[in-house]
Amino acid sequence: MSGAFPERGRGRDEILAGLTDQKTHDLQSNGRAFAFAYDAGQELRDLSREAFASCMGINGLDPTAYPSSRRIEQTVVKAMLELLNAPEGAVGTATAGGTESVLLAVKSCRDFFKNKTKTPKMLLPETAHACFHKGAHYFGIEVVPVDVDPVTFKADVEDARRKMDEHVIMVVGSAPSYAHGVIDPIEELAALAQEHGVNMHVDACVGGLLLPFMRDNGEDVPAFDFSIEGVTSMSADLHKYGFAPKGVSVVLQRRRELRDAQYFACAKWSGYAIVNATTLGSKSVAAMGAASSVIHYLGREGYRERVGQMWDATKKLVAAIDAMDGVEMVGRPDANLLAFRTTEGDIFELSDRLTEAGWHVQPTYSFGRSPTHIHLSLDPGNAANVDAFIAQIKKSMVDLPARQEPPAGISQMLTALASDTSGDMDASALMGMLGISDGRLPERAGAIHRLIEAAPPEVREKLLVLFIGELFT
Ligand SMILES: Cc1ncc(COP(=O)(O)O)c(C=O)c1O
Repeated sequence: MSGAFPERGRGRDEILAGLTDQKTHDLQSNGRAFAFAYDAGQELRDLSREAFASCMGINGLDPTAYPSSRRIEQTVVKAMLELLNAPEGAVGTATAGGTESVLLAVKSCRDFFKNKTKTPKMLLPETAHACFHKGAHYFGIEVVPVDVDPVTFKADVEDARRKMDEHVIMVVGSAPSYAHGVIDPIEELAALAQEHGVNMHVDACVGGLLLPFMRDNGEDVPAFDFSIEGVTSMSADLHKYGFAPKGVSVVLQRRRELRDAQYFACAKWSGYAIVNATTLGSKSVAAMGAASSVIHYLGREGYRERVGQMWDATKKLVAAIDAMDGVEMVGRPDANLLAFRTTEGDIFELSDRLTEAGWHVQPTYSFGRSPTHIHLSLDPGNAANVDAFIAQIKKSMVDLPARQEPPAGISQMLTALASDTSGDMDASALMGMLGISDGRLPERAGAIHRLIEAAPPEVREKLLVLFIGELFT
Protein backbone atom coordinates (compact mmCIF):
# COMPACT_ATOMS: atom_id res chain seq x y z
CA MET A 1 0.00 0.00 0.00
CA SER A 2 1.39 3.38 -0.94
CA GLY A 3 -0.49 5.40 1.67
CA ALA A 4 -1.73 7.88 -0.93
CA PHE A 5 -5.11 7.62 0.75
CA PRO A 6 -4.12 7.90 4.44
CA GLU A 7 -5.29 5.35 6.97
CA ARG A 8 -5.53 7.93 9.80
CA GLY A 9 -6.31 11.61 9.81
CA ARG A 10 -3.65 14.20 10.63
CA GLY A 11 -3.72 17.53 12.46
CA ARG A 12 -5.12 20.66 10.85
CA ASP A 13 -1.90 22.69 11.16
CA GLU A 14 0.18 19.95 9.60
CA ILE A 15 -2.23 19.63 6.69
CA LEU A 16 -2.34 23.36 6.01
CA ALA A 17 1.45 23.58 6.26
CA GLY A 18 1.59 20.76 3.70
CA LEU A 19 -0.52 22.80 1.30
CA THR A 20 1.73 25.82 1.77
CA ASP A 21 4.66 23.56 1.02
CA GLN A 22 3.11 22.35 -2.19
CA LYS A 23 2.82 25.93 -3.41
CA THR A 24 6.54 26.66 -2.97
CA HIS A 25 7.34 26.79 -6.67
CA ASP A 26 4.15 28.52 -7.84
CA LEU A 27 4.21 31.77 -9.73
CA GLN A 28 4.06 34.52 -7.13
CA SER A 29 1.84 37.60 -7.25
CA ASN A 30 4.83 39.79 -6.50
CA GLY A 31 4.60 42.41 -9.24
CA ARG A 32 7.13 40.54 -11.41
CA ALA A 33 4.72 38.25 -13.28
CA PHE A 34 3.68 39.50 -16.74
CA ALA A 35 1.21 36.67 -17.41
CA PHE A 36 -1.45 34.75 -15.46
CA ALA A 37 -1.45 36.90 -12.31
CA TYR A 38 -3.93 39.80 -12.87
CA ASP A 39 -2.87 40.95 -9.47
CA ALA A 40 -4.33 44.07 -7.90
CA GLY A 41 -2.71 43.76 -4.48
CA GLN A 42 -3.12 42.34 -1.01
CA GLU A 43 -6.16 44.42 -0.06
CA LEU A 44 -8.27 42.92 -2.84
CA ARG A 45 -6.86 39.43 -2.27
CA ASP A 46 -7.92 39.64 1.39
CA LEU A 47 -11.42 40.81 0.51
CA SER A 48 -11.75 38.05 -2.09
CA ARG A 49 -10.58 35.40 0.35
CA GLU A 50 -13.26 36.34 2.89
CA ALA A 51 -16.03 36.66 0.33
CA PHE A 52 -14.98 33.35 -1.27
CA ALA A 53 -15.03 31.55 2.07
CA SER A 54 -18.41 33.03 2.97
CA CYS A 55 -19.97 31.71 -0.28
CA MET A 56 -18.23 28.34 -0.26
CA GLY A 57 -21.23 26.26 0.81
CA ILE A 58 -23.63 27.61 -1.82
CA ASN A 59 -24.55 25.19 -4.61
CA GLY A 60 -25.57 27.02 -7.77
CA LEU A 61 -27.09 23.79 -9.11
CA ASP A 62 -30.46 24.74 -7.66
CA PRO A 63 -31.32 28.43 -7.28
CA THR A 64 -34.60 27.51 -5.58
CA ALA A 65 -32.74 25.70 -2.79
CA TYR A 66 -30.05 28.43 -2.70
CA PRO A 67 -31.77 31.71 -3.63
CA SER A 68 -28.51 33.49 -2.77
CA SER A 69 -26.88 31.85 -5.80
CA ARG A 70 -29.35 33.62 -8.09
CA ARG A 71 -28.97 36.95 -6.29
CA ILE A 72 -25.20 36.84 -6.29
CA GLU A 73 -25.05 35.79 -9.93
CA GLN A 74 -27.55 38.45 -10.98
CA THR A 75 -25.57 41.14 -9.15
CA VAL A 76 -22.51 40.32 -11.24
CA VAL A 77 -24.39 39.78 -14.50
CA LYS A 78 -26.38 43.03 -14.21
CA ALA A 79 -23.25 45.04 -13.43
CA MET A 80 -21.58 43.63 -16.56
CA LEU A 81 -24.66 44.16 -18.76
CA GLU A 82 -24.74 47.79 -17.70
CA LEU A 83 -21.00 48.25 -18.16
CA LEU A 84 -21.15 46.82 -21.68
CA ASN A 85 -24.16 48.91 -22.77
CA ALA A 86 -26.58 46.02 -23.11
CA PRO A 87 -30.11 47.03 -24.16
CA GLU A 88 -33.31 46.32 -22.25
CA GLY A 89 -34.08 42.60 -22.45
CA ALA A 90 -30.46 41.47 -22.52
CA VAL A 91 -29.55 38.61 -20.19
CA GLY A 92 -26.48 36.73 -19.01
CA THR A 93 -24.98 33.87 -17.04
CA ALA A 94 -22.03 33.69 -14.69
CA THR A 95 -19.63 30.91 -15.69
CA ALA A 96 -16.45 29.36 -14.35
CA GLY A 97 -14.15 31.26 -16.72
CA GLY A 98 -13.54 32.67 -20.19
CA THR A 99 -13.39 29.27 -21.83
CA GLU A 100 -16.73 28.25 -20.39
CA SER A 101 -18.32 31.56 -21.42
CA VAL A 102 -17.11 31.04 -24.99
CA LEU A 103 -18.14 27.36 -25.05
CA LEU A 104 -21.64 28.40 -24.02
CA ALA A 105 -21.80 31.19 -26.61
CA VAL A 106 -20.87 28.64 -29.28
CA LYS A 107 -23.37 26.06 -27.99
CA SER A 108 -26.12 28.66 -27.88
CA CYS A 109 -25.42 29.66 -31.51
CA ARG A 110 -25.41 26.07 -32.68
CA ASP A 111 -28.74 25.26 -31.06
CA PHE A 112 -30.32 28.58 -32.01
CA PHE A 113 -29.53 27.94 -35.70
CA LYS A 114 -30.22 24.18 -35.69
CA ASN A 115 -32.76 24.55 -38.50
CA LYS A 116 -30.55 26.79 -40.64
CA THR A 117 -27.86 24.24 -41.55
CA LYS A 118 -26.65 20.74 -40.71
CA THR A 119 -23.02 21.80 -41.29
CA PRO A 120 -22.58 24.97 -39.20
CA LYS A 121 -19.49 27.16 -39.55
CA MET A 122 -17.85 29.89 -37.50
CA LEU A 123 -15.85 32.79 -39.03
CA LEU A 124 -12.89 33.01 -36.67
CA PRO A 125 -9.97 35.46 -36.96
CA GLU A 126 -6.67 33.61 -36.49
CA THR A 127 -5.91 35.80 -33.46
CA ALA A 128 -9.05 34.68 -31.56
CA HIS A 129 -8.48 32.67 -28.40
CA ALA A 130 -8.03 28.89 -28.72
CA CYS A 131 -11.19 28.28 -26.68
CA PHE A 132 -13.26 28.98 -29.81
CA HIS A 133 -11.54 26.01 -31.47
CA LYS A 134 -12.40 24.00 -28.39
CA GLY A 135 -16.05 25.08 -28.70
CA ALA A 136 -16.06 24.22 -32.40
CA HIS A 137 -14.54 20.81 -31.57
CA TYR A 138 -16.97 20.06 -28.75
CA PHE A 139 -20.07 21.22 -30.59
CA GLY A 140 -19.32 20.05 -34.13
CA ILE A 141 -18.81 23.39 -35.86
CA GLU A 142 -16.34 24.00 -38.67
CA VAL A 143 -13.85 26.78 -38.04
CA VAL A 144 -13.34 29.02 -41.07
CA PRO A 145 -10.14 30.95 -40.27
CA VAL A 146 -10.25 34.66 -41.09
CA ASP A 147 -7.00 36.41 -42.06
CA VAL A 148 -5.62 39.23 -39.99
CA ASP A 149 -3.62 42.21 -41.20
CA PRO A 150 0.08 41.26 -40.91
CA VAL A 151 0.98 44.63 -39.39
CA THR A 152 -1.97 45.57 -37.18
CA PHE A 153 -3.16 41.99 -36.41
CA LYS A 154 -6.77 43.16 -36.76
CA ALA A 155 -9.25 40.80 -38.47
CA ASP A 156 -9.54 41.35 -42.22
CA VAL A 157 -13.23 42.15 -42.76
CA GLU A 158 -13.00 41.66 -46.53
CA ASP A 159 -11.62 38.16 -46.01
CA ALA A 160 -14.52 37.44 -43.62
CA ARG A 161 -16.94 38.74 -46.26
CA ARG A 162 -15.42 36.47 -48.93
CA LYS A 163 -15.76 33.45 -46.65
CA MET A 164 -19.34 34.16 -45.54
CA ASP A 165 -21.85 31.61 -46.83
CA GLU A 166 -25.23 30.09 -45.91
CA HIS A 167 -23.63 27.67 -43.40
CA VAL A 168 -22.03 30.38 -41.26
CA ILE A 169 -23.93 30.84 -37.99
CA MET A 170 -21.42 32.91 -36.04
CA VAL A 171 -18.82 35.65 -36.56
CA VAL A 172 -16.22 36.27 -33.85
CA GLY A 173 -14.17 39.35 -32.94
CA SER A 174 -11.87 40.05 -30.00
CA ALA A 175 -11.85 43.19 -27.87
CA PRO A 176 -8.95 42.92 -27.51
CA SER A 177 -7.10 39.77 -28.59
CA TYR A 178 -4.96 38.13 -25.95
CA ALA A 179 -1.66 37.80 -27.82
CA HIS A 180 -1.33 41.33 -29.25
CA GLY A 181 -3.87 43.32 -27.24
CA VAL A 182 -5.54 44.48 -30.47
CA ILE A 183 -9.25 45.25 -30.94
CA ASP A 184 -10.79 43.77 -34.11
CA PRO A 185 -13.01 45.99 -36.32
CA ILE A 186 -16.10 44.97 -34.36
CA GLU A 187 -18.51 47.39 -36.01
CA GLU A 188 -17.70 46.08 -39.50
CA LEU A 189 -17.75 42.43 -38.45
CA ALA A 190 -21.07 42.93 -36.66
CA ALA A 191 -22.53 44.66 -39.72
CA LEU A 192 -21.49 41.68 -41.84
CA ALA A 193 -23.09 39.26 -39.36
CA GLN A 194 -26.25 41.33 -39.24
CA GLU A 195 -26.47 41.56 -43.04
CA HIS A 196 -26.53 37.74 -43.12
CA GLY A 197 -28.81 37.32 -40.10
CA VAL A 198 -26.23 35.44 -38.02
CA ASN A 199 -24.75 35.93 -34.56
CA MET A 200 -21.76 38.07 -33.68
CA HIS A 201 -19.83 37.20 -30.53
CA VAL A 202 -17.42 39.74 -29.10
CA ASP A 203 -14.80 38.12 -26.91
CA ALA A 204 -14.14 40.76 -24.27
CA CYS A 205 -12.74 38.21 -21.81
CA VAL A 206 -9.76 40.48 -21.23
CA GLY A 207 -11.22 43.81 -22.37
CA GLY A 208 -14.65 43.75 -20.73
CA LEU A 209 -13.33 45.37 -17.56
CA LEU A 210 -10.62 47.45 -19.24
CA LEU A 211 -12.05 49.19 -22.30
CA PRO A 212 -15.06 50.88 -20.62
CA PHE A 213 -12.75 52.41 -18.01
CA MET A 214 -10.13 53.42 -20.58
CA ARG A 215 -12.92 55.29 -22.37
CA ASP A 216 -13.98 56.92 -19.08
CA ASN A 217 -10.34 57.99 -18.70
CA GLY A 218 -10.56 59.85 -22.01
CA GLU A 219 -8.85 57.28 -24.27
CA ASP A 220 -10.12 56.86 -27.80
CA VAL A 221 -11.72 53.40 -27.60
CA PRO A 222 -13.64 52.23 -30.68
CA ALA A 223 -17.15 50.84 -30.26
CA PHE A 224 -16.87 47.18 -29.25
CA ASP A 225 -19.89 46.25 -27.12
CA PHE A 226 -23.70 45.97 -27.22
CA SER A 227 -23.92 49.60 -28.34
CA ILE A 228 -23.34 48.03 -31.78
CA GLU A 229 -26.67 46.57 -32.88
CA GLY A 230 -25.24 43.50 -34.61
CA VAL A 231 -23.41 42.29 -31.49
CA THR A 232 -25.52 39.41 -30.17
CA SER A 233 -23.31 38.02 -27.40
CA MET A 234 -20.23 38.89 -25.35
CA SER A 235 -17.88 37.20 -22.90
CA ALA A 236 -16.04 39.07 -20.12
CA ASP A 237 -13.89 37.60 -17.36
CA LEU A 238 -14.15 38.76 -13.78
CA HIS A 239 -11.18 36.59 -12.83
CA LYS A 240 -8.86 38.59 -15.08
CA TYR A 241 -9.20 42.38 -14.99
CA GLY A 242 -12.23 42.19 -12.67
CA PHE A 243 -9.55 41.21 -10.10
CA ALA A 244 -11.69 38.38 -8.70
CA PRO A 245 -10.13 34.99 -7.85
CA LYS A 246 -10.07 32.27 -10.52
CA GLY A 247 -13.39 30.72 -11.48
CA VAL A 248 -15.67 33.52 -12.67
CA SER A 249 -16.65 35.09 -15.99
CA VAL A 250 -19.91 36.04 -17.71
CA VAL A 251 -21.52 35.27 -21.05
CA LEU A 252 -24.09 37.88 -22.05
CA GLN A 253 -26.79 37.72 -24.72
CA ARG A 254 -28.73 40.51 -26.39
CA ARG A 255 -31.99 38.52 -26.34
CA ARG A 256 -33.42 35.93 -24.04
CA GLU A 257 -34.06 33.31 -26.75
CA LEU A 258 -30.31 33.13 -27.41
CA ARG A 259 -29.75 32.20 -23.79
CA ASP A 260 -32.58 29.65 -23.87
CA ALA A 261 -30.52 27.87 -26.55
CA GLN A 262 -27.58 27.85 -24.14
CA TYR A 263 -29.48 26.02 -21.38
CA PHE A 264 -29.64 22.26 -21.03
CA ALA A 265 -32.67 20.58 -19.51
CA CYS A 266 -33.12 16.86 -18.96
CA ALA A 267 -36.12 14.98 -17.60
CA LYS A 268 -35.14 11.61 -19.10
CA TRP A 269 -33.69 9.89 -16.07
CA SER A 270 -34.90 8.67 -12.71
CA GLY A 271 -33.36 11.39 -10.54
CA TYR A 272 -34.14 15.07 -9.86
CA ALA A 273 -35.16 17.43 -12.69
CA ILE A 274 -32.15 18.98 -14.38
CA VAL A 275 -31.83 22.40 -15.94
CA ASN A 276 -28.28 23.72 -16.21
CA ALA A 277 -27.32 27.15 -17.44
CA THR A 278 -23.66 26.17 -17.77
CA THR A 279 -21.61 23.07 -18.55
CA LEU A 280 -21.45 22.11 -14.88
CA GLY A 281 -24.09 20.51 -12.65
CA SER A 282 -23.24 21.27 -9.04
CA LYS A 283 -21.43 24.55 -9.17
CA SER A 284 -19.54 26.78 -6.82
CA VAL A 285 -20.74 30.33 -6.31
CA ALA A 286 -17.67 31.25 -4.24
CA ALA A 287 -15.76 33.09 -6.98
CA MET A 288 -18.97 34.88 -8.06
CA GLY A 289 -19.39 36.09 -4.47
CA ALA A 290 -15.83 37.35 -4.51
CA ALA A 291 -16.35 39.06 -7.89
CA SER A 292 -19.47 40.80 -6.64
CA SER A 293 -17.57 41.98 -3.56
CA VAL A 294 -14.63 43.33 -5.57
CA ILE A 295 -16.95 45.18 -7.97
CA HIS A 296 -18.68 46.87 -5.06
CA TYR A 297 -15.46 47.55 -3.19
CA LEU A 298 -13.73 49.25 -6.13
CA GLY A 299 -16.68 50.79 -7.95
CA ARG A 300 -16.10 52.38 -11.34
CA GLU A 301 -13.78 54.85 -9.66
CA GLY A 302 -11.45 52.12 -8.37
CA TYR A 303 -11.32 50.35 -11.74
CA ARG A 304 -10.68 53.62 -13.60
CA GLU A 305 -7.72 54.34 -11.37
CA ARG A 306 -6.14 50.88 -11.85
CA VAL A 307 -6.85 50.83 -15.59
CA GLY A 308 -5.17 54.26 -15.88
CA GLN A 309 -2.05 52.97 -14.07
CA MET A 310 -1.86 49.89 -16.29
CA TRP A 311 -2.29 51.92 -19.49
CA ASP A 312 0.38 54.46 -18.49
CA ALA A 313 2.81 51.60 -17.78
CA THR A 314 1.92 49.97 -21.12
CA LYS A 315 2.68 53.17 -23.03
CA LYS A 316 6.01 53.44 -21.24
CA LEU A 317 6.88 49.84 -22.10
CA VAL A 318 5.89 50.24 -25.76
CA ALA A 319 7.97 53.45 -26.03
CA ALA A 320 10.95 51.66 -24.46
CA ILE A 321 10.66 48.70 -26.85
CA ASP A 322 10.35 51.09 -29.81
CA ALA A 323 13.53 52.84 -28.70
CA MET A 324 15.57 49.70 -27.89
CA ASP A 325 17.92 48.04 -30.40
CA GLY A 326 17.29 44.38 -31.18
CA VAL A 327 13.60 44.25 -30.24
CA GLU A 328 10.39 45.44 -31.87
CA MET A 329 6.68 45.49 -31.19
CA VAL A 330 4.38 42.95 -32.83
CA GLY A 331 1.24 45.02 -33.47
CA ARG A 332 0.23 48.07 -31.41
CA PRO A 333 -1.83 47.29 -28.32
CA ASP A 334 -5.21 48.94 -27.74
CA ALA A 335 -5.07 47.91 -24.06
CA ASN A 336 -2.53 46.68 -21.54
CA LEU A 337 -1.52 43.41 -23.23
CA LEU A 338 1.25 43.33 -25.79
CA ALA A 339 3.65 41.31 -27.89
CA PHE A 340 7.26 42.07 -28.78
CA ARG A 341 9.99 40.13 -30.51
CA THR A 342 13.72 40.11 -31.04
CA THR A 343 14.89 41.11 -34.49
CA GLU A 344 18.01 38.89 -34.55
CA GLY A 345 18.74 37.51 -31.10
CA ASP A 346 17.26 34.30 -29.71
CA ILE A 347 13.89 35.13 -28.21
CA PHE A 348 13.83 32.04 -25.99
CA GLU A 349 17.25 32.93 -24.60
CA LEU A 350 15.87 36.38 -23.79
CA SER A 351 12.91 34.85 -21.99
CA ASP A 352 15.24 32.47 -20.08
CA ARG A 353 17.38 35.43 -19.00
CA LEU A 354 14.31 37.34 -17.82
CA THR A 355 13.15 34.26 -15.88
CA GLU A 356 16.58 33.86 -14.27
CA ALA A 357 16.38 37.50 -13.21
CA GLY A 358 13.07 36.77 -11.47
CA TRP A 359 10.56 38.06 -14.05
CA HIS A 360 7.82 35.89 -15.50
CA VAL A 361 7.06 36.44 -19.19
CA GLN A 362 5.22 34.32 -21.75
CA PRO A 363 7.26 33.09 -24.74
CA THR A 364 4.80 32.45 -27.57
CA TYR A 365 5.23 30.39 -30.75
CA SER A 366 4.75 31.67 -34.28
CA PHE A 367 1.41 30.99 -35.89
CA GLY A 368 -0.13 32.31 -39.10
CA ARG A 369 1.00 35.89 -39.50
CA SER A 370 2.17 36.23 -35.94
CA PRO A 371 5.91 35.68 -35.37
CA THR A 372 7.51 34.06 -32.30
CA HIS A 373 7.28 36.66 -29.56
CA ILE A 374 7.13 37.39 -25.86
CA HIS A 375 3.70 38.21 -24.54
CA LEU A 376 3.20 40.57 -21.59
CA SER A 377 -0.04 41.21 -19.70
CA LEU A 378 0.17 44.21 -17.42
CA ASP A 379 -1.63 44.34 -14.10
CA PRO A 380 -1.56 46.92 -11.31
CA GLY A 381 1.15 44.89 -9.54
CA ASN A 382 3.67 44.68 -12.38
CA ALA A 383 2.73 48.15 -13.73
CA ALA A 384 4.31 49.59 -10.59
CA ASN A 385 7.61 47.87 -11.51
CA VAL A 386 7.70 48.72 -15.18
CA ASP A 387 10.87 50.86 -14.99
CA ALA A 388 12.82 48.04 -13.35
CA PHE A 389 11.44 45.60 -15.92
CA ILE A 390 12.51 47.82 -18.84
CA ALA A 391 15.99 48.09 -17.29
CA GLN A 392 16.11 44.27 -17.06
CA ILE A 393 15.13 43.79 -20.72
CA LYS A 394 17.95 46.19 -21.70
CA LYS A 395 20.40 44.25 -19.54
CA SER A 396 19.24 40.88 -20.85
CA MET A 397 19.63 42.04 -24.45
CA VAL A 398 23.40 42.59 -24.02
CA ASP A 399 25.28 39.97 -26.08
CA LEU A 400 22.10 38.05 -26.80
CA PRO A 401 23.15 35.14 -29.06
CA ALA A 402 21.62 34.74 -32.50
CA ARG A 403 18.65 32.42 -32.97
CA GLN A 404 19.55 28.89 -31.89
CA GLU A 405 18.43 25.68 -33.53
CA PRO A 406 16.52 22.97 -31.63
CA PRO A 407 18.60 20.05 -30.25
CA ALA A 408 19.96 17.49 -32.74
CA GLY A 409 17.74 14.50 -33.55
CA ILE A 410 14.62 16.53 -32.94
CA SER A 411 13.46 16.52 -36.52
CA GLN A 412 13.35 12.66 -36.62
CA MET A 413 11.45 12.66 -33.38
CA LEU A 414 8.93 15.19 -34.68
CA THR A 415 8.49 13.16 -37.84
CA ALA A 416 7.88 10.05 -35.73
CA LEU A 417 5.39 11.93 -33.65
CA ALA A 418 3.52 13.17 -36.67
CA SER A 419 3.27 9.63 -38.03
CA ASP A 420 0.85 6.90 -36.93
CA THR A 421 3.53 5.13 -34.92
CA SER A 422 3.77 8.05 -32.49
CA GLY A 423 2.25 5.87 -29.75
CA ASP A 424 5.62 4.12 -29.52
CA MET A 425 7.38 7.24 -28.30
CA ASP A 426 9.00 7.08 -24.91
CA ALA A 427 7.50 10.16 -23.31
CA SER A 428 9.45 9.97 -20.08
CA ALA A 429 12.76 9.68 -22.00
CA LEU A 430 11.78 12.79 -23.94
CA MET A 431 10.97 14.66 -20.71
CA GLY A 432 14.30 13.57 -19.23
CA MET A 433 16.16 14.75 -22.32
CA LEU A 434 14.52 18.16 -21.94
CA GLY A 435 15.30 18.44 -18.22
CA ILE A 436 11.70 18.28 -17.00
CA SER A 437 11.39 16.66 -13.60
CA ASP A 438 8.83 16.69 -10.80
CA GLY A 439 6.37 18.51 -13.03
CA ARG A 440 8.53 21.61 -13.31
CA LEU A 441 10.05 23.20 -16.34
CA PRO A 442 13.75 23.86 -15.89
CA GLU A 443 14.54 27.54 -15.26
CA ARG A 444 16.12 27.60 -18.71
CA ALA A 445 13.22 26.32 -20.81
CA GLY A 446 14.57 27.58 -24.16
CA ALA A 447 15.33 24.06 -25.43
CA ILE A 448 11.74 22.99 -24.82
CA HIS A 449 10.34 26.06 -26.53
CA ARG A 450 12.68 25.63 -29.51
CA LEU A 451 11.48 22.06 -29.86
CA ILE A 452 7.81 23.00 -29.86
CA GLU A 453 8.39 26.03 -32.09
CA ALA A 454 10.13 23.81 -34.67
CA ALA A 455 7.03 21.66 -35.10
CA PRO A 456 3.94 22.38 -37.20
CA PRO A 457 0.77 23.15 -35.16
CA GLU A 458 -0.62 19.57 -35.34
CA VAL A 459 2.63 18.13 -34.00
CA ARG A 460 2.80 20.86 -31.35
CA GLU A 461 -0.63 19.73 -30.19
CA LYS A 462 0.59 16.13 -29.91
CA LEU A 463 3.68 17.24 -28.01
CA LEU A 464 1.59 19.28 -25.62
CA VAL A 465 -0.72 16.33 -24.92
CA LEU A 466 2.29 14.08 -24.39
CA PHE A 467 3.88 16.63 -22.10
CA ILE A 468 0.87 17.27 -19.91
CA GLY A 469 -0.01 13.56 -19.84
CA GLU A 470 3.48 12.80 -18.60
CA LEU A 471 3.23 15.48 -15.90
CA PHE A 472 0.09 13.88 -14.54
CA THR A 473 1.21 10.25 -14.73
C1 LIG B 1 -9.40 36.90 -25.16
C2 LIG B 1 -9.54 35.67 -24.31
N1 LIG B 1 -10.63 34.90 -24.44
C3 LIG B 1 -10.81 33.78 -23.71
C4 LIG B 1 -9.87 33.38 -22.78
C5 LIG B 1 -10.08 32.11 -21.99
O1 LIG B 1 -10.21 32.43 -20.66
P1 LIG B 1 -9.97 31.39 -19.45
O2 LIG B 1 -8.50 31.14 -19.38
O3 LIG B 1 -10.52 32.12 -18.29
O4 LIG B 1 -10.73 30.15 -19.74
C6 LIG B 1 -8.73 34.17 -22.60
C7 LIG B 1 -7.68 33.77 -21.66
O5 LIG B 1 -6.60 34.30 -21.62
C8 LIG B 1 -8.56 35.34 -23.38
O6 LIG B 1 -7.48 36.11 -23.25
